[in-house]
Amino acid sequence: MQPAPVTKYRPFPPVALPHRQWPGRTLSHAPIWCSVDLRDGNQALAQPMSVEEKLEYFDLLVKIGFKEIEVGFPSASQIEFDFCRRLIEEKRIPAGVTIQILCQCREDLITRSLEALRGAKSAIFHLYNSTSPKQREYVFNASRAEVVGIATHAVAFLKKHMAPLVAEGTQLRLEYSPESFTSTELDFALEICEAVTDVWAPTVANKIILNLPATVEYAMPNVHADQIEWMATHLTRRDRTLISLHTHNDRGTGVAATELALLAGADRVEGTLFGNGERTGNVDLVTVSQNLYTHGIHPGLDFSDINGIREVYERCTKLEVPVRSPYAGELVFTAFSGSHQDAIKKSWPHQKPDRPWDVLYIPIDPADVGRSYKAIIRINSQSGKGGVAYVLENTFGFTLPKLMHKEIGKIINDLADTTGRELTAEEINAAFQREYLERTAPLALEHFKTSEHDSAVKCEARLTLHGESHKLTAAGNGPIDAFVRALGTTSLPKFEVLSYAEHSLGKGAEARAVSYIQITTDRGTSLFGAGIDTNIELASIKALVSALNRALAKH
Ligand code: KIV
Ligand code: ZN
Repeated sequence: MQPAPVTKYRPFPPVALPHRQWPGRTLSHAPIWCSVDLRDGNQALAQPMSVEEKLEYFDLLVKIGFKEIEVGFPSASQIEFDFCRRLIEEKRIPAGVTIQILCQCREDLITRSLEALRGAKSAIFHLYNSTSPKQREYVFNASRAEVVGIATHAVAFLKKHMAPLVAEGTQLRLEYSPESFTSTELDFALEICEAVTDVWAPTVANKIILNLPATVEYAMPNVHADQIEWMATHLTRRDRTLISLHTHNDRGTGVAATELALLAGADRVEGTLFGNGERTGNVDLVTVSQNLYTHGIHPGLDFSDINGIREVYERCTKLEVPVRSPYAGELVFTAFSGSHQDAIKKSWPHQKPDRPWDVLYIPIDPADVGRSYKAIIRINSQSGKGGVAYVLENTFGFTLPKLMHKEIGKIINDLADTTGRELTAEEINAAFQREYLERTAPLALEHFKTSEHDSAVKCEARLTLHGESHKLTAAGNGPIDAFVRALGTTSLPKFEVLSYAEHSLGKGAEARAVSYIQITTDRGTSLFGAGIDTNIELASIKALVSALNRALAKH
């Protein structure tokens, strides 16, 4: 038992914002995205990416459509510096893409970072210092005024020393982060942001980016939204400011915090693919962007090949995307539960290409992220008849009559129970073949032929029953009727045909017919048989033999 009462932890203080607007708003457009995979994400890897891996990852981010990419912390290590230089010198940064570098508020580091950026067409210089009371007290032993001084001095130093770079044609913008913003008193966060803005003197055309990080996520998403709305409504130069979010995921609500803070007025979102980043990670931009997409807002990022993106991500980071990760996880388009499978199967046919997406239990068309429909329904002992029928139809082309679903569902469920694991589509098909199509005992059909006489159909059949050979003839109003009558002359129990269905299997010269026949025996058992043949008549006769063999096996 965890200790109770809980005195070790405290509630997070709410923000006094009685007239908050964000709860009444809806999102109408995508934010500016900035990927921090190559910096915040990379610094959190047990084995950071090599330069080659970073280059491949950078290309991936560009391909997805990121226009702002934080490429590293060039003053922190030679690898980071070299990577930045390679991007610039090898002209790997396409027009329209801005690289961003992170730097602490220190003169030597700013100088080195400016060197790293030489020759870049467009760059964001990201300065940060920690602002929360605990950081000020424990880590820096600095007063509020001293912390403001660190930030403003750095901005002034940058402004002075960036002149040569700008003269050479680099468009340089400033991003400032009061690190640990969400744990900082709002009035102090405002004070330091205003002071930095004073020194930088942004314009409407060249706005300052104020990045307000949830460096560690301590509060609920509504409190985060309040903090952002409070800042958005108190900053004096809102028209010259882009408010940027940088959420981490310690409480598992990084996505929710980001979404609510966008409602609260933020313009920009920093995060990573699949939520890589320190501890529980940065916010997952795949989820945030696809959540927008599924609400009818194009995010301006392209995740139409999510499997390909995941492959590069997993190879470069050596991390695995969890199977339940929204949109990208292995199992997120899979239903195991019977009632879900049934609802998916029933709603799917109503989905028309020109209509809004309405398939039950699947909030996005898997095709929109390059996923296939095939794995949507998977079978274990929790699965139902609808799922089994779906697999047989979608993977193997058997459109079983509705009444047959229950029967095959039970057979497959029992098999899943016995194996105690998930069944593959192949195992389901094999069980179907064994149960219905491959039965030759006690009744085996050796020969079957029909001829028409006036309006009647005469059949001649040769079969083995319990090892004994029989030659039968009879007439009826069709081949099935004639065969039923012929079988009536044997020792087989009496039965009646209840229903019949057939369809073709495959196309062209390879096409065959598959028939399903339901019978009821004199003992009141009703069950199905199935048969396949290139000849449709023979397919139905085989289906009848299959049904009888199953009935005899049961009795
Ligand atoms: O999480 C954080 O606060 C950061 C800053 C450097 C922006 O990564
Ligand atoms: Zn961070």
